[in-house]
Amino acid sequence: MSLQERVLITGAGGMLGKAVYEKAIEKYGKDFVTATDIDLNEEWLSMLDVRDIKAYENAFETWKPTIVFHLAAHTDLEYCEKNSTDAWATNALGAENAAILARKHDALLIYISTAGIFDGKKDEYADFDTPSPLGYYAKSKFHGEKFVEQHLSRYYIFRAGWMMGGGVQKDKKFINKIYKQIKAGAQELFVVEDKLGTPTYTVDFAGAMMKVIDSGYYGLYNQVCEGGGSRYDVAVEFVQQLGLTDSVKVTKVTSDYFKEEYFAERPASEKLLNVKLSMRGINYMRDWRVCLAEYAVEFKNDFYGTL
Ligand SMILES: NC(=O)c1ccc[n+]([C@@H]2O[C@H](COP(=O)([O-])OP(=O)(O)OC[C@H]3O[C@@H](n4cnc5c(N)ncnc54)[C@H](OP(=O)(O)O)[C@@H]3O)[C@@H](O)[C@H]2O)c1
Repeated sequence: MSLQERVLITGAGGMLGKAVYEKAIEKYGKDFVTATDIDLNEEWLSMLDVRDIKAYENAFETWKPTIVFHLAAHTDLEYCEKNSTDAWATNALGAENAAILARKHDALLIYISTAGIFDGKKDEYADFDTPSPLGYYAKSKFHGEKFVEQHLSRYYIFRAGWMMGGGVQKDKKFINKIYKQIKAGAQELFVVEDKLGTPTYTVDFAGAMMKVIDSGYYGLYNQVCEGGGSRYDVAVEFVQQLGLTDSVKVTKVTSDYFKEEYFAERPASEKLLNVKLSMRGINYMRDWRVCLAEYAVEFKNDFYGTL
């Protein structure tokens, strides 16, 4: 009989956490998954602050996980610039804590990193390109990558791109920022065209992780949706998916337009290519436009009432 895995998820209250929790339950069974966060926004979440190694170790001792999905992070780039000590404590020390404990308790660690670790001087980045992080968010996440790689042999690092997922309630990023403006009645959206990236649908990302971690091909992987584009391209597609092309205009601007609000330095391109996943025949990510069409249904239901 195969071993019954026991799963611990940190940072599970966020936009990716919802999808990871659901996919983990599907795969391992509800009784074998425990989901934690510092923001207890669901009844299925319990408290775990990953900055606190004693609390983290206590979770290992009581739950005895064989697999840990370490999602916990501060993901707001401006917050990280203004609160660099907390960014380091949460994103870097938190990841160190995860790796130290995974090794001590012989658990498989899955760490989520970001396309933002590159400086954007190239148009697109393969798994083997050299990171050169710009701001505190990226630096602290890259530190996590390096520590996990140096400390463990049984680990996966998955780098995500522009995350989209979690819906109206949980999505803190681009899609929901655009949606909130539309919902508030905006007839014109100003969107940057000088930032390139790869949208990454949380449902695909979580589902793909569940498959890749069964391969035993440990290591670091870029894992984003297929395709890519600018923020402008994503906004145009989303407005179209909502059926609002005739009533909401999308106007191109440069990043300068938002330099007060989004003052953290961002790479001009954080477009990733899933080179390793593809070469090993384990790339399960769909095209971002297909994913966005699926995801947009949640927003259409909110906007027009359930269809
Ligand atoms: N969002 C993206 O575009 C993106 C892109 C690439 C990679 N990632 C990575 O993907 C992972 C999941 O992020 P996400 O997209 O789901 O973002 P998210 O919605 O911000 O989720 C992160 C969760 O971690 C929680 N958290 C913060 N500090 C914590 C601590 N000390 N202990 C435990 N939990 C803590 C957050 O709570 P609060 O809300 O209270 O802070 C939040 O619920 C992160 O590792 C992130 O770096 C995200």
